[in-house]
Amino acid sequence: MALRLGKELLYLCGAEVAHVGPSMEESLAAIREAFRQKGLGVAQQPPKTALHPVNEDAFLHAMPAYVPEFGAAGVKWVSGYPDNPPMHGLPYISGLLVLSDVYTGMPIAVMDCAWITAQRTGAVSGLAAQALAAPASVTAGLLGAGVQARTQLLALATAIPTLRSARVYDVAANAANRFVKDMGAVLPQFSLQIVDSAEAAVRDADIVVTAGPIRKEPQPLVRREWLKPGALGLPIDFDSMWTRSALGAGRYYVDDLEQYRYYEAQGYFRESPQPVGDLGDLSTGRVEGRQSADEVIVAMNLGVAIADMAMAAIVYQRALAAGTGTVLPL
Ligand SMILES: NC(=O)c1ccc[n+]([C@@H]2O[C@H](COP(=O)([O-])OP(=O)(O)OC[C@H]3O[C@@H](n4cnc5c(N)ncnc54)[C@H](O)[C@@H]3O)[C@@H](O)[C@H]2O)c1
Repeated sequence: MALRLGKELLYLCGAEVAHVGPSMEESLAAIREAFRQKGLGVAQQPPKTALHPVNEDAFLHAMPAYVPEFGAAGVKWVSGYPDNPPMHGLPYISGLLVLSDVYTGMPIAVMDCAWITAQRTGAVSGLAAQALAAPASVTAGLLGAGVQARTQLLALATAIPTLRSARVYDVAANAANRFVKDMGAVLPQFSLQIVDSAEAAVRDADIVVTAGPIRKEPQPLVRREWLKPGALGLPIDFDSMWTRSALGAGRYYVDDLEQYRYYEAQGYFRESPQPVGDLGDLSTGRVEGRQSADEVIVAMNLGVAIADMAMAAIVYQRALAAGTGTVLPL
């Protein structure tokens, strides 16, 4: 399929994006390269801009980025509405992504962004785990068993070949049950266990992922003494579930320092420790990763548009090659 630049764009619905989307292994490689470009200073990514129409915990984010190696320039317009799943039967995360032609600025694609968001958020945690997890990590502890938790576990299983088991806690028992059923089919080699408290999921876990609702006023659960020596914490829900002492238990990394500072200025992360660096710095070797098998590390992943655009460029090219999607007039 070929598009007439300036006359047409490609529209991809969620199922089409998922159909042509890269595997987790390919996604990890793409995300690694996107962070390297950010670390080298050649990718552009202003901090995301937020609207909060109904309350502080519901958001609409505009997330632009340019990643030269992928020929990708665009913006993701993504919402996070915590009440959607329980009250409306709608997903927490939804939105669209627009890609523009780098040389002329003409729009070339509009696509659903839910699959890309989940896949790249998993891959970012996978990348962080490759750099920061203790050697021979075996067990993951997951708080929150929703959409993101699935790709978090898939990415960790792909990135850390020694990982073999996961304990999962969700306030909604049916969410944990569905998670174990779905992920048991995807990762048959894994031992998956539902536990009845956050503490039971976190204690003795080598890698702890928290994927519950983001709250501007955190309701911390994870305590310092629950984290075993050498544990890696991977919050994708800001500091909503983490006590100050757990976040500061050891060295603290973020996915993008500039964006993190912007969020601090907005009133988030008031009690949080100072980051030693970000994933761009780690990927270029500007900051060091894990120093000992026993140190506790937390890597906070707020979500970066460079990752979205890298993934979207791959999806776009594969959709064109496969003749997938709908060509719309501009
Ligand atoms: N950092 C990023 O790049 C990024 C990207 C996408 C989503 N997110 C965030 O990830 C989080 C999860 O998103 P999702 O799409 O999986 O939502 P989801 O609604 O599908 O899943 C969230 C799950 O958390 C559970 N939960 C709520 N409170 C809990 C608690 N106290 N303890 C344990 N479980 C609890 C809910 O029952 C639900 O099953 C959201 O905060 C979202 O904003 C972050």
